[in-house]
Amino acid sequence: MEEELISVEITVFENPQDTAEGFAEWLFEWVSSTEGAVHIALSGGSTPKRLFKHLADCYAEDFPWNRIHLWWVDERCVPPTHEDSNYGMTKKLLLDKVDIPADQVHRIIGENDPDTEARRYGEEILARVPERESWPEFDLVLLGMGGDGHTASIFPNRLDLIETATVTVSVTHPSSGQPRVSITHPVINNAKHVVFLITGPDKADMLQQVLDAEEANISPFPAAFVEPDGGLLSYYLDVAAASKLDLEDEA
Ligand code: 6PG
Repeated sequence: MEEELISVEITVFENPQDTAEGFAEWLFEWVSSTEGAVHIALSGGSTPKRLFKHLADCYAEDFPWNRIHLWWVDERCVPPTHEDSNYGMTKKLLLDKVDIPADQVHRIIGENDPDTEARRYGEEILARVPERESWPEFDLVLLGMGGDGHTASIFPNRLDLIETATVTVSVTHPSSGQPRVSITHPVINNAKHVVFLITGPDKADMLQQVLDAEEANISPFPAAFVEPDGGLLSYYLDVAAASKLDLEDEA
């Protein structure tokens, strides 16, 4: 069967702040062009912090928060008050500063038992996010990439999960052992838009391998298996993260 080529859009900015602001500008234009509910799944970690702060500082009034449903790509299984909580970080930088209806914030309950919460969160996604081809179809999934090539909480030691039949999984971080709940590649790849937000020199080598690997169609890196079959895949990068890319090739 002929390999379906995924169209990949790469935009490079001078520095992490410009990258966050450039993505926020795209996000605002895109959401403004839609009607009705918009389901967005957010990643955590450190990269999105600039974005969330910028959205709170500059888009609190203009964004149609009453149409936005926020979900999480993954969560560390800790309470919201824990410093590792993706929800806790997003609440502090963004949610506490904008008027998004509380019942449109669908957090992963990090303090629950991981397996139980993975099932509960998956059931909530299936009940609330519109479906396409019998999988939930998020309007936007915002991803980061770890230096080891993981994305969401799908790590290189768990490539068996790439083909999983479930909407969510519970895993443990390969080095810290921290339990995590994550959405899976079939859900990510069913989204209308998937955006990687990647900055910093420490991601440059891996990003080059991930983008090259997509050509080779085999890879030890979960981030390389993000190939939205019906949607758009965009990379918002700073110069440092893009420094190993031959952008002529990637075009
Ligand atoms: C998480 C994220 C994870 C993150 C990458 C990159 O819970 O940590 O969802 O997938 O996007 O690890 O993290 P940084 O932005 O901190 O480099």
